[in-house]
Amino acid sequence: MKILMVSAEVVPFAKTGGLADAVSALSIALEKLGHDVKIVMPRYYKIPRENLTLLEGPMGIPTGTGEAWTAVYTAKLPGSKNVSVYFIDHEQSFGRDGVYGTPQETDFSDNPERFSVLCHGAFQLCRKLQWEPDIIHAHDWSAALAPVLLKFNEKWVGFGRTASVLTIHNLGYQGNYSKSHYPSLGLNWDYYYATGFEDYDRINFLKAGLVSADMLTTVSPTYAREIQQSEYGFRMDGILRDRNDSLEGILNGVDTDIWNPSKDKKIPVNYTAKTIEKKIENKLALQERMGLEVNPDIPLFGIVTRLADQKGVAELFAPSYGCAYRMCTTMNMQLVVLGSGERWCEDELRNLQAKLPNLRCFIGYDDALSHLIEAGSDFFIMPSRYEPCGLNQMYSLLYGTLPIVRRTGGLADTVQNYDEKTGEGTGFILDNLTPDSIYDTVGWANYAWYNKRDHIEKMKKRAMAQKFGWNVSAEKYVEVYVKALSKQR
Ligand code: ADP
Ligand code: GLC
Repeated sequence: MKILMVSAEVVPFAKTGGLADAVSALSIALEKLGHDVKIVMPRYYKIPRENLTLLEGPMGIPTGTGEAWTAVYTAKLPGSKNVSVYFIDHEQSFGRDGVYGTPQETDFSDNPERFSVLCHGAFQLCRKLQWEPDIIHAHDWSAALAPVLLKFNEKWVGFGRTASVLTIHNLGYQGNYSKSHYPSLGLNWDYYYATGFEDYDRINFLKAGLVSADMLTTVSPTYAREIQQSEYGFRMDGILRDRNDSLEGILNGVDTDIWNPSKDKKIPVNYTAKTIEKKIENKLALQERMGLEVNPDIPLFGIVTRLADQKGVAELFAPSYGCAYRMCTTMNMQLVVLGSGERWCEDELRNLQAKLPNLRCFIGYDDALSHLIEAGSDFFIMPSRYEPCGLNQMYSLLYGTLPIVRRTGGLADTVQNYDEKTGEGTGFILDNLTPDSIYDTVGWANYAWYNKRDHIEKMKKRAMAQKFGWNVSAEKYVEVYVKALSKQR
């Protein structure tokens, strides 16, 4: 099958979250199954042109209100045999810092136009390459215009045999803007309602994609069920219930070439379940690096996260509300936090660090440190309010670091709760997101560390034996592609 991925983020070129990891790993896994996969994304200012190959000739992208004259660059996706990534180079849209925005302007005001260039560009690129895909696979709101364009425009002009799939990586981000941007999307006003774009007199990219794509997927089976309920549906639950037959939850895999304790080059000492005693060397290195007391006996809890409400950071860190201070002052433990995001939270983490010798944080983005935290911690805390899939709890399991998670989305699908009587389980699960329940569950893990160490050691090995390969998931995507194609009339 010929598959074109459309995404705003692709590892290693641009990443703000797990979306970037998922798109590139899925592409590689599909290639291994024998499919012809290409990816189209913007060439952001931060992606150096020197490392890319320029395709000959300019590419004109007619949007709604004019024509964007762009260059197209290409590069092979690292880790693949032959997956080409195509970069749309349009100074006005992408020649600036930030994927969706910057700390000063978190959501660029011209995002509708920018991502319209990406989605129209996807079709122009196929024309330029004279390559007709079977599937256009769009990821998240920023690519959601692509399935809409296919259904309402492109189907009649060269893409009659192409079907579309939209994957929801996060329903919380929908691309909601004033309808004054609608003309720049290149869709006739007649289609304002039919496309699904209309949303309380504004436009909503994700909603349009949910209405228009042939098939919908999201990144775990539990999340696929949750988003059909109002609590998790972000106002889209009605549409999703309506499209229930076309919605599937497929768990993301892990790229085990990158996240593998037996060969990870970013950690001081490699280890496997059989040589798990070597894991401690990474713990000592992490304690040293973060300025904590170097002591193998104190349980070390790690956090790597976007500092965003979704991740439960208020319940952890909010002044006079969050439980981190109480945890670190009443339990014999250490806490390491790596993250960046909401300003209040970054500030509060610095405050906590100044008060607590056993809490250390690094504010910013640091890939190598995230590997060291996964390898060096004993436990990993991830109490998300909602979690479509979540990658870090899977990385934790594979590194023998026991996750403490909330029972939601992909977290519920990947972690088995500890049973104190039998010692079964791979982590510790809380049901309600409150400071108290995080505190209690961390306390439970802490108790087990000091009093049931044999359970903890067995759980670590059990965690490391979990399988999160992409191959099974990629096969499920192929089934979804087949269903999408069967809907073609
Ligand atoms: P989300 O996409 O919602 O942020 P995921 O768990 O799916 O959550 O993916 C997050 C990814 O981003 C992981 O690969 C994680 O290691 C990485 N990450 C998040 N914050 C940081 C950070 N500050 N430094 C390094 N890596 C980070
Ligand atoms: C989103 C979700 C996360 C998921 C990732 C990749 O960013 O928040 O749970 O793992 O996409 O699908």
